[in-house]
Amino acid sequence: MSKSIVIYTSKRGSTRQYAEWIAEELGCKATALSDAKEINLYEYDCIIYGGWIRGSGIVDFDKFAKRLDNELMEKLIVFGVGMADETADNYAQVWGYSIGKIDPKNEKRVLLYILGGRYRPDEVKGFDGFLMKIMRKVLLSGSTKESKGRADFMKDRIDNGVDMVRRENINSLVKDAKKLTNK
Ligand SMILES: Cc1cc2nc3c(=O)[nH]c(=O)nc-3n(C[C@H](O)[C@H](O)[C@H](O)COP(=O)(O)O)c2cc1C
Repeated sequence: MSKSIVIYTSKRGSTRQYAEWIAEELGCKATALSDAKEINLYEYDCIIYGGWIRGSGIVDFDKFAKRLDNELMEKLIVFGVGMADETADNYAQVWGYSIGKIDPKNEKRVLLYILGGRYRPDEVKGFDGFLMKIMRKVLLSGSTKESKGRADFMKDRIDNGVDMVRRENINSLVKDAKKLTNK
């Protein structure tokens, strides 16, 4: 029987929600990365790692990636959950800080999905709150005339929050995962 596993890192629940929905669709387990130390990844036909996006990086992907080799990367699908739109620029940036770090020539063709997340400004405190303040400043100071519209759009999400978590966002990822396990 072919098997899948979903491993995730979530701070405020939206990535965990996606991980659980994906696992439900695939009939497998979703496990937090912190609980996944004992899991033997070689037992699976499809390995899915999902993390929330912070400063365009997929949180703890680097930690998880230490466990990967060529064989495991053939079965890997990655998703990041964030509040920026799924534009080509955003994909390129997130890819560069995650999969691009371990496979800069994209030889393994690891699939990356960016799924719409949830951001509630009142929940974000401490270091994350500080980081967000800086990101907001950089976003606004760096905006050219062309990018101003997009910067304003993001500023609105940062200031007022946004919730883009929808179950249907996982559909393409699930289809790809099923392709891997039906081989
Ligand atoms: C400090 C901080 C930095 C963030 N940076 C980004 C970012 O660069 N790009 C993005 O799309 N979302 C960014 N976000 C939004 C989160 O990725 C989003 O809220 C996500 O849904 C959180 O996932 P979680 O609910 O699993 O913790 C950031 C959020 C915080 C708090």
